[in-house]
Amino acid sequence: MVWHKTVGAKALEKAGGVSIKVGDEIVFATRVNGKLYAMNGVCSHAKCILGHVEKDELKVKCPCHDAEFELETGKMVAPPFVAPNAPMDKLGLKTYPIREENGFIEIDL
Ligand code: FES
Repeated sequence: MVWHKTVGAKALEKAGGVSIKVGDEIVFATRVNGKLYAMNGVCSHAKCILGHVEKDELKVKCPCHDAEFELETGKMVAPPFVAPNAPMDKLGLKTYPIREENGFIEIDL
């Protein structure tokens, strides 16, 4: 695991989070109520890029079919509307350690 310097910390304040290319991965990063969260930024349903967090919510919604993922765990907590019986327990996303250092967001992959 290696810490990767990514975007300036202010980038996370806009639009409910950002999806960032980090090495070979796309990572969704956001800050809610002062706490940083990072998870795989590619939806496990049909590979759309996440998404944003509604104000103060602790989940991110996929823009394609509205699946929702818990920020803390990456667990899918609402299925895609086109696949309401999707096996949510198998469709979680990996989460990553994240920190702010000298005004930049760093993610441990
Ligand atoms: S691609 Fe994300 S819910 Fe379908």
